[in-house]
Amino acid sequence: MGWFFGAVVLLSMLVSVSGIGANWGNQATHPLPPDTVVRLLKDNGFQKVKLFDADYDTLRALSKSGIEVMVGIPNDMLATMASGVKQAEKWVKQNVSAHISNNGVNIRYVAVGNEPFLQTYNGTFLRTTFPALQNIQAALIKAGLGNRVKVTIPLNADVYESPSSLPSGGDFRADIHDLMLAITKFLSDNGAPFTVNIYPFISLYIDPNFPVEYAFFDGSSSPVIDGSASYTNMFDANHDTLVWALQKNGFGNMPIIIGEIGWPTDGDMNANVGYARRFNQGFMTHILSGKGTPMRPGPVDAYLFSLIDEDAKSIDPGNFERHWGAFYYDGNPKYLLNLGSTNTGALVPAKNVHYLSRKWCVMSPSANLQDPQVALSVSFACAHADCTSLGYGTSCGNLDARGNISYAFNSYYQIQNQLDTACRFNLSMITKTDPSTAECRFGIMIEQYYPSSVPRSGYPSNLFSLMASLILILVTVW
Ligand SMILES: *[C@@H]1O[C@H](CO)[C@@H](O)[C@H](O)[C@H]1NC(C)=O
Ligand SMILES: *[C@@H]1O[C@H](CO)[C@@H](O)[C@H](O)[C@H]1NC(C)=O
Ligand SMILES: *[C@@H]1O[C@H](CO)[C@@H](O)[C@H](O)[C@H]1NC(C)=O
Ligand SMILES: *[C@@H]1O[C@H](CO)[C@@H](O)[C@H](O)[C@H]1NC(C)=O
Repeated sequence: MGWFFGAVVLLSMLVSVSGIGANWGNQATHPLPPDTVVRLLKDNGFQKVKLFDADYDTLRALSKSGIEVMVGIPNDMLATMASGVKQAEKWVKQNVSAHISNNGVNIRYVAVGNEPFLQTYNGTFLRTTFPALQNIQAALIKAGLGNRVKVTIPLNADVYESPSSLPSGGDFRADIHDLMLAITKFLSDNGAPFTVNIYPFISLYIDPNFPVEYAFFDGSSSPVIDGSASYTNMFDANHDTLVWALQKNGFGNMPIIIGEIGWPTDGDMNANVGYARRFNQGFMTHILSGKGTPMRPGPVDAYLFSLIDEDAKSIDPGNFERHWGAFYYDGNPKYLLNLGSTNTGALVPAKNVHYLSRKWCVMSPSANLQDPQVALSVSFACAHADCTSLGYGTSCGNLDARGNISYAFNSYYQIQNQLDTACRFNLSMITKTDPSTAECRFGIMIEQYYPSSVPRSGYPSNLFSLMASLILILVTVW
């Protein structure tokens, strides 16, 4: 009996020590206040958070929360960090040391760049990423944080490949093989982890022949046999392709962090709440079992992508890009998800969220669909707001033409904080009757949050450009 309980306790300790993390991005027109998000993280039992920058207000909110933090250096700062160790020292002083010593923020990792070797970047960051990594590491050591804070580079899974398509064929991508080797050795020498983002959804999105069932953890696709290992889901196979690549190059014991994993809920025919729940719950159940992958039995260290939807993200990768959250923009959970951390086994919504008034902007019944102003106004609204839930296979894809137009008008009106002038497409009107349908939600925006302390770099300029284009359009069209 004793050994059995001992083993169970030990196992659950191992699993709970690793815990589950969340990616917290801020590319939203109306981000929730950082304190609200930190409460949301705690209420849902997230023990770790991964950021994409080192926003002052975000870090202040995490102070004394106990939550482990990975701060990030955006790609556009890599050249500066690479240019000299002095720059890196300044960054570490302002964005790491100060928060650890003055604010009690539990910073454990610095993410240097974000998927810098993505093939779509055409090699832009190939020369700066490694020097930036070295300079940040040197700066951390100089600040006396060498043991406590580890560097890493969140990489896309396209930095490795397998010509045979089997995990055992895994090696670093040929065009960056030597660079990857040098980076991996540097990370290993400094006791730092290898961080990779794995996306079965993207595989399905770019390859219509990808076997859908293989994307999931409870899928019914026939297993892929690789020597003595048998793979029934893409995550395990992709992860083990990396393990083989590391092993082949002499780093078989290198710790791995899954920097991003998740499934979007809208903006594509395969992006929906059903699939997202199935994928994320499958992943959680998989890692909570503690059994790991065929090549790496044991706990998996991972950060879900992502916590909350971000309505200002670039849609270059696809319309799904604004819908990765397990929570909507307002902190409401999208689906039931058992993270193994709450008593109810369901996600807990954000508390004390302040909404704007219960009103919407819709196409006026007297307006004529044929009016040429309609198309102009819709494209203006969609360019400045968010129409990614319109289109084939999306949540609002079944609206009729009038519904479509209303959706676009309302999105713009809400993003403009329900400004009266933002519902004057000369074709629209304000209504207090919720135009939402069973599948399609016409949102009401939350109140704009203004950081109290240090100005946030992104939003005010964004607001300014929105206002500027609004004025421009008023001048030119109206
Ligand atoms: C600290 O991080 C913020 C946010 O990413 C950035 O704007 C700022 O320039 C950084 N500080 C230094 C000294 O590099
Ligand atoms: C990469 O190259 C392609 C083709 O030359 C170009 O269309 C694209 O804009 C480039 N992307 C970046 C980020 O430079
Ligand atoms: C609604 O808008 C979407 C995206 O702009 C478009 O693909 C679709 O055809 C529109 N539907 C109708 C009925 O106009
Ligand atoms: C706006 O609507 C009014 C009356 O409905 C019409 O007379 C006017 O021409 C419209 N303006 C524009 C710019 O379409």
